[in-house]
Amino acid sequence: MNLTELIEARREQHLAELCEFLRIPSVSAKSEHKPDIELAAKWVADHLRSAGFKTVEIMPTNLHPLVYAESLEAPGKPTVLFYGHYDVQPPEPLDLWTSPAFQPEARDGNLYGRGTADDKGQVHIHLKALECLHQINGKFPINIKVLIEGEEEVGSVSLWDYVQTHKEKLKADALIVSDTSMLARSVPSITYGLRGLNYYQIELSGPGRDLHSGVYGGAVPNPLTILTELFAKLHDKSFRVAVPGFYDGVDAVSASERKALKALPWKSKDFKKAVGAPDYCGEKGFTTVERLWIRPTLELNGIWGGYQGEGAKTVIPSKAFAKFSTRLVPHQEPKKIAKLVEKQIRKLLPKSVHCKFELLSTGKPWVAAYHAPIFQVAQAALQKGFGKKAVFIREGGSIPFVTQMHDTFKIPCVLIGFGLPDENAHAPDEHLALENYYDGIKAIAHFYEDLASL
Ligand code: BES
Ligand code: MN
Ligand code: MN
Repeated sequence: MNLTELIEARREQHLAELCEFLRIPSVSAKSEHKPDIELAAKWVADHLRSAGFKTVEIMPTNLHPLVYAESLEAPGKPTVLFYGHYDVQPPEPLDLWTSPAFQPEARDGNLYGRGTADDKGQVHIHLKALECLHQINGKFPINIKVLIEGEEEVGSVSLWDYVQTHKEKLKADALIVSDTSMLARSVPSITYGLRGLNYYQIELSGPGRDLHSGVYGGAVPNPLTILTELFAKLHDKSFRVAVPGFYDGVDAVSASERKALKALPWKSKDFKKAVGAPDYCGEKGFTTVERLWIRPTLELNGIWGGYQGEGAKTVIPSKAFAKFSTRLVPHQEPKKIAKLVEKQIRKLLPKSVHCKFELLSTGKPWVAAYHAPIFQVAQAALQKGFGKKAVFIREGGSIPFVTQMHDTFKIPCVLIGFGLPDENAHAPDEHLALENYYDGIKAIAHFYEDLASL
């Protein structure tokens, strides 16, 4: 049996095993899921061992464990580091799932469940590609290091320290990641840019306790009203972020990149269908693709306070809260942006409320050239798996580790995504197209194999 035949023969086995991985509710944001996080880390470690890695470690951190494995038995061959994450986003709202989030189900060519696309399904593609390669050859064709973390969805906080204190251990000729998307169905894609992310929370405190809105209303500050006024002022009429200095240093979109992006097989019809809103909006002067991939943004992610239960409760809340984030692009320094945002918020707020401002996580943007020979190897491997030529894209999401690795080691980072933009990552009914899962295993197996001749 050759590599492709082995992968074909194992389709059902691979899928059944992925379902087992998906049934572990490894939600990193919630402490009640700590035991599931531990279980998922152990699951990954066990499967790395059965894939052929002899050195496998589960490393505790201040929050969730990292799983590390290595096989350095190919002298003279390249060394790559594969990175992914075993943690997932919370599944809520549960009632919007067609089948339960942690009971994976195959329907209409897709596998449904939390983590299918982001990122357990994509991590599993690599585990199975490597396992099949190891079985065919009795060893791996190149030197491979693997780092799978459990904090990606909460900002990869422990990872930064780990990278800084284990530079020698993580050193590699290239970083390989599958935690992004394809541009569209049947368009295999390699991502060369991601936006950075600052995540914030603010708490506005007004009255010392909740007040009867009839007895006090009209003569006291309402923190919820003040919060909504504040956010209304953080964008201008052209949908630009109204924070002085926010765009300082941000590059204009170059004519050559604008042309390359326009040539991509990106369809606004698909985009609109995936979004499903009555109308669209965005920063004036930029195409939708540019707004998504190249321009920085500020988004309100959650807002709460006051009464939300059944019926009416006439109350002026003592406090109001918001979670929000800024997506960042090259030359925006995350810490500096956070200072500018805080300064503007404090300037806009009236004296009648106190504001607690927290920066919960930061991550730098990443954009890189894709001239290194490894990108041609990746393109050729995708051709073998999907029968189509891969395109080079940027994306709007964030993976802090990619920038950390790129800045620390100055190595090529090859982001090969198998998700699709409409697969509901972070939302109910998250799914992964089964064809991309199966073709992904083939493409990735060929990729690792072909890297031996680099
Ligand atoms: N896999 C995503 C990042 C992503 C999604 C990149 C789509 C490109 C396209 C990752 O798991 C993620 O969701 N990251 C978070 C950031 C994190 C710090 C919470 C994000 O982008 O919101
Ligand atoms: Mn992810
Ligand atoms: Mn995610």
